[in-house]
Formats: sequence, structure tokens, C-alpha cells
Amino acid sequence: MIISPLLSSLTTGLALTGIIEQDVPLLLNQHILPATARHCAAVAAEAGRLAGRFGVDPGAARTAGWLHDVSAVIGTDWLQAAEELGVEVLPAELVYPNLLHQKISAVLAHQIFGVTDPAVLAAIGCHTTLRPGASRLDMVVFVADKLQWDQSGRPPHEAEMSAALERSLEQGAWVYLNYLWESREDLVVLHPWAEAAWRELAPARA
Ligand SMILES: [Fe+2]
Ligand SMILES: [Fe+2]
Repeated sequence: MIISPLLSSLTTGLALTGIIEQDVPLLLNQHILPATARHCAAVAAEAGRLAGRFGVDPGAARTAGWLHDVSAVIGTDWLQAAEELGVEVLPAELVYPNLLHQKISAVLAHQIFGVTDPAVLAAIGCHTTLRPGASRLDMVVFVADKLQWDQSGRPPHEAEMSAALERSLEQGAWVYLNYLWESREDLVVLHPWAEAAWRELAPARA
């Protein structure tokens, strides 16, 4: 694996074991990001549970959950990192570069952690916004991240999402996309993948 200079500088001196559930906390804690390490552990566990429930590979879901926010080690210069790592930047991501953290986590998953499964990398790369044509693994990781969110208190959309998940995985994902859609005026920007997924998954209206 060829690792970019930016990423090799972030892992200097780190003795990775090859076991993702050990290596992700190792890297995040080295960068003094214990809250992110706890969030990633929680999302991995939630993704594993949802995967079992909805017939998705739980191992793939847990791996994606562990790695989804690992790009926190980059800091805040997402545009610079995207350029160095060859990540495509959409106009909405220029407006709100933090949205790039999903794609950049996928690059770290590949280059630092050796993940090669394109389905896992894709799920990491769309965990914030989902995407049109999303796989069920994408949806599991997206929903797990929203149920185990990284802000204080309980997520306001938790009850509605849980109820929708009783109907289907798609409807659970749609609840959060609809929350984004309805608050679009208050968002810095609505990512085009989120809007496209919202349209695609909209439940049929009676
Ligand atoms: Fe994230
Ligand atoms: Fe997250």
C-alpha cells in the first residue's frame, strides 16, 4: 500500500496491530480525540446490530462504523487534505468543507488500515449524507451514525427513526434525510447526495 506523505505523518510512531477495533482507538487517542474514539466504537456496535437485523454483513458494517470518522485526525483543513489525497471536491463541499470528512475517512481506511472492500469504503464515504443508489450497507452505517450521534443528549430524531426502522431500513434512513431536507434553510448547505437520496427513498404517499 502506497501511503500519502500526509497520512504517513499522522501515523508516525504508531504500532498498528492490524486489528481495527484496537487500531482506531490507538490512532484517535494519539491525536487526543477520545470522544471520537468512543463515538466510533458506538457507531460500530450500532451498525453491527442493524446489519444483523436487516440482513447486511455485520463484519463489514462494524468495520465501516469503526472507521467512519477516523479522518478527525486530519484536523480542520479539509480542502488541503482533499487536494493532497486526490479526493474530488463538489461545489457544496467547497461551501462547507467539513462534508469532505466522509470521503477522507475512506482514504484513511484504505491507506492506513488496509481496507480494500469497495462496499465498506463506499459506506464510510457517504456516512454523513448517504448517496443516490445507496447500498443497504451504506444505509446501515448512515443510520447507525445518526442514532449514535456525537453531540450531547439524545438525538431529536431518534424516536421517529426507530419507529420508521420498524417498517424498513430505507424508511429509517429517509427520516433523517427528511430532517435535513426540512432544515435545509438553516444548514450551511444541503449536500446533493443527501437531496438525491431523499428524493429516491421518499416513501410512497397515500
Ligand atoms: Fe462523520
Ligand atoms: Fe460519526
